[in-house]
Amino acid sequence: MRTAIRIFSVVFALSSTTAALGESPTADATSAAKKLSAYDEQIKPLLAKMTLQEKIGQMTQPDQDSLQSETDIETFFVGSILSGGNSDPQDGNTLEAWTALYLRCQKQAMSTRLGIPLLYGVDAVHGHNNVIGAVIFPHNLGLGCTGDPELIREISEITAKEVRATGIEWTFAPCITVPQDERWGRTYEGYSEDPKIASELGEAAVFGLQGPRLSDDPQRVLGCAKHFLGDGGTRPGTGHADGLLDQGDMQGDEEMVRRMHLFPYYAAVDAGVGTIMPSYSSWNGKKMSGHKYLMTDVLKGELGFEGFLISDYNAIDQVTPDYKEAIEQSINAGMDMVMVPSNYANFTKFLEELVNEGRVPMSRIDDAVTRILRVKCAMGLLDDDYSPEADPALQEAFGSAAHRDVARRAVQKSLVLLKDNGKAFPIAKGATKICVAGKCADDIGNQCGGWTIDWQGKSGEVTTGGTTIVEAIRSTAADAADVTFSEDGKDAADADVAIVVIGEKPYAEFMGDSAELVLDPEDVATIKNVTASGTPMVVVLVSGRPLIINDTLDAADAFIAAWLPGTEGQGVADVLFGDYKPTGKLSITWPSSVDQIPLNSTKQDDSCLFPIGFGL
Ligand code: GLC
Repeated sequence: MRTAIRIFSVVFALSSTTAALGESPTADATSAAKKLSAYDEQIKPLLAKMTLQEKIGQMTQPDQDSLQSETDIETFFVGSILSGGNSDPQDGNTLEAWTALYLRCQKQAMSTRLGIPLLYGVDAVHGHNNVIGAVIFPHNLGLGCTGDPELIREISEITAKEVRATGIEWTFAPCITVPQDERWGRTYEGYSEDPKIASELGEAAVFGLQGPRLSDDPQRVLGCAKHFLGDGGTRPGTGHADGLLDQGDMQGDEEMVRRMHLFPYYAAVDAGVGTIMPSYSSWNGKKMSGHKYLMTDVLKGELGFEGFLISDYNAIDQVTPDYKEAIEQSINAGMDMVMVPSNYANFTKFLEELVNEGRVPMSRIDDAVTRILRVKCAMGLLDDDYSPEADPALQEAFGSAAHRDVARRAVQKSLVLLKDNGKAFPIAKGATKICVAGKCADDIGNQCGGWTIDWQGKSGEVTTGGTTIVEAIRSTAADAADVTFSEDGKDAADADVAIVVIGEKPYAEFMGDSAELVLDPEDVATIKNVTASGTPMVVVLVSGRPLIINDTLDAADAFIAAWLPGTEGQGVADVLFGDYKPTGKLSITWPSSVDQIPLNSTKQDDSCLFPIGFGL
């Protein structure tokens, strides 16, 4: 029977046309190339054999580091496992340890009665960022400033290869949020405040990750468009645990919701994205993870999404206080798989009870499992000759120079030149004394930001290797040049030029919500020291979002927004020394004060510091 699946899959794949990149998002989202329902005939016999426990198991996604024992994967017929932000292998954070962890989990799943392989999911959102040695690309906001969908497709393709090098076959990316308020700690995970840019680059990312369609290509991974819907449109003061914005409430009418936040999902669905993650946030007080109209009627009905919905991390707990009722509401609203890191025994028990009590119809369970099996079938996991072994060639290329070159190019194209009075920029190659200053000049952790080795990221050496900005400056400056570095910039007086690299320390999610968006005091002091020296000054801002920079901008002779460039700091030096002429354009409006926010392309306010699209 599985051979039949394989033959059919090959015929199906060959017969489908490859949708052209950039197909209009309003195109028919169920175009032949993407219809996962074409696999339903092959799935039916498998579904018919499954017990209720085996079906519920497919809908359950624990975190590997919260398993009571890895044998729980077999005991609960688990259909998926994730590694959340800090969930590393017990035996070390190396390519080998990750690959061994993946294989152990997969072998557990394949030793069940039906042997259905699991999908292993991670947040590879700017490279395979959990794993030491991976190439870390710029976060999405910087990529949004490149305006280059082809580059985003290439980056996603490399990310897929580095993820597959560990055997893992699913990333919770791309994030196609449309951030409307820079005070949100996840602004950098979005490409742009403009839904059209988010749509075009999100589509390119899906193509790069999955290929023209989901298939058994061992160099592609399953993508996940997130977080559905309006995660970046919440109002201040409604956030997580009374936080500012994250996981808060989006308030507004359906026309705005569709125009701003639903728009990127047309292209993602049309590109054949296999999974979508509903958001923690809510719309006019109703949590997305229990929103039947948006998850089922709109996304699955109107847009024709045929893959499956994966909840966010314990997100269904927020639907309603009683956990069993939350499960009932979320599953009936259309949630197909639940990210239930540690509470998986209760989840499976309650869902089984709900089905036996008739509160969740078996038809809903069958629909969810069908959607999950469609994806597994399309990816070859149900094929006779399926093997979970990682490809040694991919392991060989993990973190390779060729991959780093693409990341360097992405850094070059993401930088935006905001000011240049001709006195300091570009740095003359013949400069003999270059003073480098600022807390982000020699800090890979600050360069990479959140979601890097650790969930929150970490200042300092994140041991994932790479080039700091000052290292890049040293290797680019003339051999005779004397390049000094001091965080406080007190030695700037007798230099030809000063390069001051300031910005944000790493953060992720609600930990990054900020009411003020001001520069850190140590950065203000550094700028003051260098300004007092009278030396021409180029300021480089390493941040996940626009900050309030007015005074610093006035003091600088040149000012560059570098966003969160990742491990390849050489790309910053290429721009600083004129080896790459700046091409980046802002994909987000730059406010001149916090009380202007939310300020975006639809509410252009000419008192903003720089409008979307700006870049010298
Ligand atoms: C997090 C994030 C989501 C991520 C998931 C798994 O809370 O909201 O983006 O994919 O949990 O780590």
